[in-house]
Amino acid sequence: MVNLSVQLLILSFSVIGIWASPSLHSRVIHEKREHVPHGWERSRKLDGSTILPMRFGLKQSNIDRLEELLMDVSHPHSPNYGKHWSPERIAETFAPTQDSVDSVIDWLDSEGLGRDRIKLSNSKGWIQINATVEEVERLLNAEYHVYTHIYGNQHIASSSLACDSYSVPAHIQEHVDIILPTVNFDAKVPPPRTASSLSRRAQRQGATINSFAKSKGKVELAVNAADPLATCNEQITPACLRALYNFTYTFVATNENSYGIVGSTPTLVSIDGGVAQTKEQSFDFNGESDLDLEYGMTLVNPQKVTLYQAGDLVEGASFNNLLDALDGSYCTFDGGDDPTEDGIYPDKAKGGFDEPESCGIAKPANVISTSYGSQEPEMTASYQIRQCNEYGKLGMMGVTILYSSGDNGVGGPDVCINPRTGKETASGTRFDPVGATQINPNATVNDPESACEQVIFSGGGFSDIFALPSYQAEAVTSFLTNHPPPYTAQQFNNSGKARGYPDLAANGANYIVGIDDGFELVFGTSCSSPVVGSLITAINDARLAVGKSPVGFINPTIYLDSFQSGFNDITMGGNQGCGTPGFTSVEGWDPVTGLGTPNFGKLLELWLALP
Ligand SMILES: *[C@@H]1O[C@H](CO)[C@@H](O)[C@H](O)[C@H]1NC(C)=O
Ligand SMILES: *[C@@H]1O[C@H](CO)[C@@H](O)[C@H](O)[C@H]1NC(C)=O
Ligand SMILES: *[C@@H]1O[C@H](CO)[C@@H](O)[C@H](O)[C@H]1NC(C)=O
Ligand SMILES: *[C@@H]1O[C@H](CO)[C@@H](O)[C@H](O)[C@H]1NC(C)=O
Repeated sequence: MVNLSVQLLILSFSVIGIWASPSLHSRVIHEKREHVPHGWERSRKLDGSTILPMRFGLKQSNIDRLEELLMDVSHPHSPNYGKHWSPERIAETFAPTQDSVDSVIDWLDSEGLGRDRIKLSNSKGWIQINATVEEVERLLNAEYHVYTHIYGNQHIASSSLACDSYSVPAHIQEHVDIILPTVNFDAKVPPPRTASSLSRRAQRQGATINSFAKSKGKVELAVNAADPLATCNEQITPACLRALYNFTYTFVATNENSYGIVGSTPTLVSIDGGVAQTKEQSFDFNGESDLDLEYGMTLVNPQKVTLYQAGDLVEGASFNNLLDALDGSYCTFDGGDDPTEDGIYPDKAKGGFDEPESCGIAKPANVISTSYGSQEPEMTASYQIRQCNEYGKLGMMGVTILYSSGDNGVGGPDVCINPRTGKETASGTRFDPVGATQINPNATVNDPESACEQVIFSGGGFSDIFALPSYQAEAVTSFLTNHPPPYTAQQFNNSGKARGYPDLAANGANYIVGIDDGFELVFGTSCSSPVVGSLITAINDARLAVGKSPVGFINPTIYLDSFQSGFNDITMGGNQGCGTPGFTSVEGWDPVTGLGTPNFGKLLELWLALP
């Protein structure tokens, strides 16, 4: 009798044990990181009681139709060209099914994370819950560690928390895209709360997010008022760019039009054509934003420029912060940025920066230029695909997104991929990366430019994650067939099926930028992207003035044969990196300077002729 009841007791305990344990459901690994990204080191385990702000990105409906729907409004040959969608229609079309919402909530509830703690975002895209490390480790069968990263020689450290892999019950997998924070190095380590300080913001700068600009240091202005174009080979000014890119235009529809430039913490400077700020003075702090805004604002004047101060890039899942702001359906945070942690914008006093966003309340600008980026191998494919889909939705809304393609040729910043894995180093870029060119030494604004080979090398190559889009197929196939690069699959994705980048280029050398109280010579695809953004903003202005739509997702258009006269093909220079000469600029599209640099006058005519 005694024995029996003990046995029964044990039996019932073990039954309870099984039911309470996630191991009863068959589990599948949902995401796994192959390696720790360059420069990161595991430092310690996280305390089990630390609270993690968990976010479950639900599978979206119709997402497999995104590319088709995007092409429908973006391809000039489509009858719906320019008929962009409203944010509401987009949110509705891509909202996850009620079944996905219910399944994930039931799962969390069955794991003891009570329903009352769970929040569903307005778009139904995300389920959020604050849970302890202990709870999350059990839920996801994962182990969290703190990782630290020292950034370059700037004595800037950042830390992130991450796990190596995580799993979910098999029946949940089909309902979830991604769970954050997990394997990607984009999550700050809680609790971070002490008095806000500049140095702490600085600490989080730059780890996986690189600002694509380099300075050669302070210089004297060489520009000669009598002949402002004579020194363009030494110092680029807005006048040089106007001459290079056939850019003369008077803006008309400035109230309807908009142009946004993405800034990053720490950029605590108020910028108005090179004004001095007093808190922090160095290129690392101000250079990138000064550059972007000085050129962007000058070239589109009097068009207002919106600065998207994307809060804290490292912690806030990087560009996800920006996406939150622009697109409510993406919003991952309840209240948007944390005022004690994030940037000090808007600066209402200067130059017309609009009120920045919090969560889904900012109407996206028609053109958004970003001069920051990270490396493709540093984030998982699901993470990047989800983000890419969000850029696709913005394209459907008529927004043109421009990204710098990086400054390290075929390599990343101080990093190339282990050849054993066969993976190429692709600077993490999506949609419209802009490469860099230069005016050759002693050449003038009337001579052809080369790929930039001073201080920086234009980022370019082929993706390991994103497939060759239809609009680019002819250009890439022609490049690989007629100019086969002297490399194998060890160096790059030579399958002929991979997305090539950049799409186009603009000057990225010798920009004269007012930073703090002097001038510096700045190099980078960071220079190129806002310049192209300014030109597209002018084209939007002209189209809006005649009652047409903004140009939106430009890729299917710029690759058309009929548009090639709108570009100056770049056929000199290369983008060395990883101990190789990299790729070479050739006639037609190439993975150094894309289709070439813009000829504004001709592009304007071409785009005005479209419906
Ligand atoms: C998580 O905690 C933060 C900070 O206390 C709070 O602002 C947020 O609303 C919480 N989120 C959820 C989903 O409860
Ligand atoms: C540029 O011109 C200067 C002066 O004429 C000359 O000394 C220099 O070698 C030239 N540089 C190149 C790269 O041709
Ligand atoms: C090359 O790109 C294709 C198309 O995106 C992809 O299927 C393949 O996995 C890539 N190869 C490597 C080695 O990453
Ligand atoms: C500049 O653009 C105009 C159209 O506005 C065009 O007629 C002209 O040919 C272009 N100039 C060059 C040098 O391409």
